[in-house]
Amino acid sequence: MEKNAFHFEYEVYDSINELPEADAWLLEEAREVTTNAYAPYSNFHVGAVARLTNGEMVAGSNQENASFPAGLCAERVLLSSASSLYPKVPIESIAISYRSSLVESDHPISPCGICRQSLQEYETRLHHPIRLILGGMKGKVFVIPKASMLLPLSFNSNDLNGT
Ligand code: THU
Repeated sequence: MEKNAFHFEYEVYDSINELPEADAWLLEEAREVTTNAYAPYSNFHVGAVARLTNGEMVAGSNQENASFPAGLCAERVLLSSASSLYPKVPIESIAISYRSSLVESDHPISPCGICRQSLQEYETRLHHPIRLILGGMKGKVFVIPKASMLLPLSFNSNDLNGT
């Protein structure tokens, strides 16, 4: 028997004011994009904005449905848009923020499990890590260097084709 371990490092900033300018700008955009969310059921409005390696920006927000499982998270709305508009252009960074009438937006939120799976495959497909900049409307900001770090021991296409 041997023991394995996973270890990853990420950056913690006390506030958006400490971030490098380009990251602060992207997080401000993500905060703004929460206003495009359609979230009448959860009241949890999520905004995500990506900077692509060609300098273009792509946004996404969560889009809910009365049939709850039909709803989509902001991250996967963003990935679908990016892949449709710029199918061959890697994503460099994604900023994610949120607002809610029920909880205070004062700490970072992290992508849900399904979104982690989608982010991981996007990285693999376009051979480029995706940085995540996570922050609420105020408070600390986390910068994760590579989205797939959030999904250790993942299931992926190698498991399907035996490579
Ligand atoms: N949601 C996102 O859009 N992204 C996340 O990272 C977490 C959750 C959405 C899904 C649903 O519309 C609402 O937030 C509450 O779960």
